[in-house]
Amino acid sequence: MVDNLVGQATELESLNSKLNNRPAGKPFVADTLARMKAWRLANGASWLAERSESDGDKNSFLSVAFIPTMGALHDGHIELVRRARAEADLVVVSIFVNPFQFAPHEDFDKYPRTFNSDLELLNSVGVDCIFCPSEKEIYPHGRQSIVSVVPASPLNDTLEGAFRPTFFKGVATVVTKLFNLVQPHMSFFGEKDFQQLLVIKALACDLNLPVAIVGVPTVREPDGLAMSSRNAYLDSTSRALAPVLHQALSSVVSAFESKVPAAAALEKAQALIKAESKFDLQYLSLCHAETLEPLSEFAKPFVVLLAAKLGDVRLIDNIVVT
Ligand code: PAF
Repeated sequence: MVDNLVGQATELESLNSKLNNRPAGKPFVADTLARMKAWRLANGASWLAERSESDGDKNSFLSVAFIPTMGALHDGHIELVRRARAEADLVVVSIFVNPFQFAPHEDFDKYPRTFNSDLELLNSVGVDCIFCPSEKEIYPHGRQSIVSVVPASPLNDTLEGAFRPTFFKGVATVVTKLFNLVQPHMSFFGEKDFQQLLVIKALACDLNLPVAIVGVPTVREPDGLAMSSRNAYLDSTSRALAPVLHQALSSVVSAFESKVPAAAALEKAQALIKAESKFDLQYLSLCHAETLEPLSEFAKPFVVLLAAKLGDVRLIDNIVVT
C-alpha cells in the first residue's frame, strides 16, 4: 500500500511539473481516496505548512484551494474556480453527489449528473486535480451508521434547516470528510447557498480546521435568476417565472434604500411572489447576515433569504447588504 502510494506520488511529481506550468497540463483525476492522497503527498502533504519568507523563490510551499461540488457545473462554479485560481497555487475541485444530505423524499436519484461535460469544463478552465470518489469509499459502512457532524442551533434548524432537517448534518459531515482528504488551505463556497456558507464557516472555526472559508457572490442569469444546478429541472413556463424571486428580493433592498420599514417591504415582496399561483413560498426572511437571527427592522449587515417551490422544483436565493 505504502509502496503503491510512493509510486503514485513519484509519477505525480512529474505530472505536477506539467500541471504547474498550465495551460498545457490536464487536471489529475483522483477517483479513489488513495489517488487523492498520492496527489496531495506529491504537492506538499502538510496541512499546517505555511509559506515562509525564504520559500518565495524556491516555490517549496504550494497553497491548495478547494471547491467542493456535486457536479452539474455552471458559471457559478466556474466563478469559484476563477477566484480560487487567483488566490492559490493549486486548485482542487471535487464532484460527489452526497447522498447523506438528501432526505428520502428529495431528489438524490434525479439530481443532474453530467460528469463528462463537467470534466471537459474543468479541463478548459484549468484546475489541477478533480476529486471524484465513489459513494462506497466515502461511506464504506453505509450512511446510516457513521459518526456525523451536527452544526449548532439555530443555524442548523432555521430557514433551510426547518424545511430540510438533516440537510446541514449531511453537508457538514461530507465537507469535513472532504477537507480531511484534500487538506486545502482555503475553500470557496457560493453565497447563493448563504446558510450553507455560514454553516461551513462555523464548522471550520468551531472544529479548528486549518482552512480559510471564502464566500463568493452569486452568479446570475441575465434576467436575475441565480445560477443553480437545479435550474435544469425548470420547464419553459417555470423558467420564465423564476426571475420573480430575484425581483422580490431586489424590491426589499430598494425599499430599504428608500427608507420603507422592513415589514412593509417584506409584505410587498411576498405579494409579488404570491401573485403567481405556481409559486409555493416557503419562507421570505430578513436576518442578520452573520448569525441569521431574524430582524424586524433593517440593520446592516443583513440578508434577505427565500425558498419557494415552483411546481416540483425548489429554488433558494438571497441578497446580502453589508
Ligand atoms: O453546495 C453543494 O454543492 C453541496 O452542498 C456541497 C457543499 C458540495 C456538499 O455536498
